Formats: sequence, C-alpha cells, structure tokens
Amino acid sequence: MTNEPQIPDPKIIVALDYSSAAAASQLVERLDPRLCKLKVGKELFTAAGPAWVEHLVSLGYGVFLDLKFHDIPHTVAQACKAAASLGVWMVNVHALGGRAMMSAAREALEGLPRRPKLIAVTVLTSMGPDDLADLGIDEEPQQLVRRLARLAHECRLDGVVCSAQEAAMLRQELGAGFCLVTPGIRPASAGKDDQKRIMAPADALRAGAHYLVIGRPITQAADPLQALQSVGQEIANIGELK
Ligand code: C5P
Repeated sequence: MTNEPQIPDPKIIVALDYSSAAAASQLVERLDPRLCKLKVGKELFTAAGPAWVEHLVSLGYGVFLDLKFHDIPHTVAQACKAAASLGVWMVNVHALGGRAMMSAAREALEGLPRRPKLIAVTVLTSMGPDDLADLGIDEEPQQLVRRLARLAHECRLDGVVCSAQEAAMLRQELGAGFCLVTPGIRPASAGKDDQKRIMAPADALRAGAHYLVIGRPITQAADPLQALQSVGQEIANIGELK
C-alpha cells in the first residue's frame, strides 16, 4: 500500500464530433475530467487547431487525438511527436501503414517525458468484404482485423481500436495488457443512431475493452453530465471483475 493519491483513469472517452471549438466547448464545460476523457478527431482538429487541444489538456482532460496517421514512417513518426508535444493521452495510426511505419511511430514516442499511448486502427468498420476485394485483399474483415492487431502487437504498440464484438477474441489472443478501445457503445436507455453493431458499456468491458468511445448518447443528451454519470454508474463495479 502507498499513500500516493489515486490518479483517476476514466474508462469513458466522449467523442467530440463537432465542427468548431465553440460548439465543442459548450459540451466540454458541462463535463468533468474526473469522469471522462475526450476524443478529438479530424473535423474538430482541423477546425479548432492544436492550441485548442492544449486547452483541453490544461483543463485536466485526457485527450485521445484521433487523427489516424498513415504515411511514410518518418512522416508519421514526426506527426506522433508533434501530437505528444500537445500533452495528449493517446494518439493513433493506421495499422495498414505497415510494420516499419508503426515501429517508427513507437520509437518516436519512446522516452518522452509524457509519452502518449499509441494505438492502431485495424480495419475501418465502414469497409466490408467487397471494399477489401477492391483493394486486392481477399480476407474477411474479421481475419484482417486479427492479422493487423497481431502486427500492431508485434510492433509493441499499446493497443488497437476495435469493435466490442472483437474485444474478447483480441484480448484472448493478445493478452490483458494490450489496450482495446471500443466505439459503437450504447447504454440501455439510448438509441442506436447509425451504429449497426452495438454493445452496452458493461458488456463491452466484460468482453475485454479497456476504454469505451461514446458520442451521441452523451453529446446529444438533454443533460450530458447526467448521461455521463449514468454510464459511469453502469460500469462502476466492472473494473473489479478484470
Ligand atoms: O455517436 P457515437 O457514439 O456513434 O460516436 C462514436 C465515435 O466513434 C465517432 O467519433 C465515430 O467516428 C467513432 N468510431 C466509430 N466506429 C469505428 C471507429 C470510430 O463509431 N469503427
């Protein structure tokens, strides 16, 4: 036992799918960094810029900078370093960028004082077997997810983004230390929106997810903080099961 203060590590990552800092700020002001992290994607980052990301960090939020880098190894490595300099908690790359690219990204972050977690996107969920065939890939999406997750693991990345349906398989294959970040999460009380394969927050954690990306069930709620707290209650005791 130590007397170190417990640093909270919220499992919920709220997806800030907004077109401007002003719109996102209205939500952020109503949330609480002790209860959630925030995901900033390409739309908001392009509109609001790095200074605004630093602002979120200064408010105490863990920020997942979801820019899915995919380029030659040197370029991606430098982009990851630039992301790390903003103080973000997590960055990601496309596993389809390959072994050299993922390894370069990991090496670029090694030894940094505030090293963000580095995870990979395997197969975009918008891609079906026909889309893969167009690219000359004859594998089923699920098989490709597995192959790319293994590759990310071999490159010593911290984890992958995956659907909650894939979490149990990946956890069994790659171990409990490999971080699984799962979107497509819907609390019992929320609608599906355009997500096809959804899972409840507690079920996703039981399946092996470490962090849950949740957008509209919180961002579109009449009371976002209350919606966040209610998901927090749904998952409150799951951590003890792991
Ligand atoms: O509003 P909702 O909870 O559906 O938002 C989910 C977030 O996770 C969005 O930012 C979406 O782009 C992202 N995402 C996803 N499915 C993936 C990868 C990312 O829904 N496979």
